[in-house]
Amino acid sequence: MGRGAQAADVFGGNDEVTEPKPIITFENVTKRFGKLAAVDNVSLSIREGEFFALLGPSGCGKTTLLRMLAGFETPTEGRILIDGQDISNVPPNKRPVNMVFQSYAVFPHMTVADNVAYGLKVDRVSKAERDRRVEEALELVQLGGLGQRKPDQLSGGQRQRVALARALVKRPRVLLLDEPLSALDAKLREQMRTELCTLQEKVGITFIMVTHDQDEALALATRCAVMSKGLLQQVAAPNDLYEFPNSRFVADFIGSVNLFEGVLAVDEPSHAVIRSPGLPTDIFLDHGVTGPRGGTVWAAIRPEKIELHKRPDDGEPPNMGDAPKGTNAVAGVIKHEAYLGGVSTYEVEIEGGRRVKVQRPNLTRWDQEDFRLGEAVWIAWHACSPAVLLS
Ligand SMILES: Nc1ncnc2c1ncn2[C@@H]1O[C@H](COP(=O)(O)OP(=O)(O)OP(=O)(O)O)[C@@H](O)[C@H]1O
Ligand SMILES: [Mg+2]
Repeated sequence: MGRGAQAADVFGGNDEVTEPKPIITFENVTKRFGKLAAVDNVSLSIREGEFFALLGPSGCGKTTLLRMLAGFETPTEGRILIDGQDISNVPPNKRPVNMVFQSYAVFPHMTVADNVAYGLKVDRVSKAERDRRVEEALELVQLGGLGQRKPDQLSGGQRQRVALARALVKRPRVLLLDEPLSALDAKLREQMRTELCTLQEKVGITFIMVTHDQDEALALATRCAVMSKGLLQQVAAPNDLYEFPNSRFVADFIGSVNLFEGVLAVDEPSHAVIRSPGLPTDIFLDHGVTGPRGGTVWAAIRPEKIELHKRPDDGEPPNMGDAPKGTNAVAGVIKHEAYLGGVSTYEVEIEGGRRVKVQRPNLTRWDQEDFRLGEAVWIAWHACSPAVLLS
C-alpha cells in the first residue's frame, strides 16, 4: 500500500479478490448471547498456509469466533465455509480443524504420551499407528523422549507444547491457537514464538492464533485482524497495520501513538496541512489525503518517528528538510524519561501543556547525546511520518 492511501483505506482485507482460494471464509457471521453481539457481522477469508492472528481487547469476541470455527458454538447468523463448503452441519470432530484452548488443560493423571494419544484413541486409531504419530508429534514440538513423564514433571513451556502436540497429532488442516503462550514468561514466550513459526513452516498447516500481545501478533503473523466489540476493525499485514491503521482505535491498540485532532486546512495532491488546536505548529504532509476539507481528522504520529533535538540559545527550530519552516517542529520540555535498555522513552510537554511521547534508540553504550529531565528541546517529525485518520 502506498503513502497517502490511508484515507481511502477504510477497510483492510479488500485485496482478497486476486489471492488464491481461501481455506476458511466467514460470511456475515454474527453470534449473539442474549442481547450481546459477541461477534457482529464478521466477513473474513483466510488463505491456506497463512499464520493469521486475531487481536483485540478482552471480551471483543476472539474466542467466540474461533469456537464457531471449531464447531463448539453455532453462529446466530451467517455462514462459515471451509474449502467453499458450508460446515454448519459438520460436528466438531469431523471438521479439519483443531483447537488449542486458552487454558491449555492437559490431563494431569496421564503421561505426556497418553495426553497426546488421547484424541487418536477416541478416533479409534490403531495402537501401532498411534504410537508412531505420538512420537512424531512429540519430536515436532521438541519433547522427544519425554513421553513417559507426567505433566507436573514438566516446565510451563513444555506443558504448553504438550497441548500443541495433542492438537498437531490429529493432523488438522487448520490449527486454532487461543492465547497459546499466555502462561509463559517473557523469555520463554519469545523462544516459543520462534518455535511456533518454525513449526508452522515445517508442517504447512494454516494457523489462526488469538493473542493479547501485539508484539507477538506482529512478529508471527502473515496477517492480523483487529477486533473491537465483536466487529472487525481492520485486516492487514503486520507492517500495514502498524504504519497504515484505518482508525484511532487500531492506531492506539497496536503500539504507542500520539493522536492530534485537527482540521484539514490544505489538501492538494502533492501535500496537505492539518491544523490541530492543541499543537502550536501546523502538521505538514508530503502527500494529499483526499479527506473532508475543513472536517475533523486525526494525525497519528508514532513515538519513534518523532526526533528529539537540543534547543540552542537562539531558539531556532531544527530543519526537517521535507517540511516547510514553521511546520512539524514544536518546542517543549522533557517531563518524563524512561530507560528501557534498547530504547529510551520521553514525555515532552509542549506549549499549551500537552505531553508528546517520543522514543529514541540507545545507539551507543556511552557518549550518547544525552537528554535530561527538565531539558528544553525541540520535537520534530518528517512530512511522511503522520498517518491521517478519518475516524
Ligand atoms: N457462553 C456465553 N454466554 C454468554 N456470554 C458469553 C459466552 N461466551 C462469551 N460470552 C461473552 O461474549 C463476549 C466475547 O467473549 P470472548 O470469549 O469471545 O472474548 P475474547 O475476545 O476471547 O476475550 P479474552 O481476550 O478475554 O479471552 C464477552 O462479552 C463474553 O462475556
Ligand atoms: Mg478469549
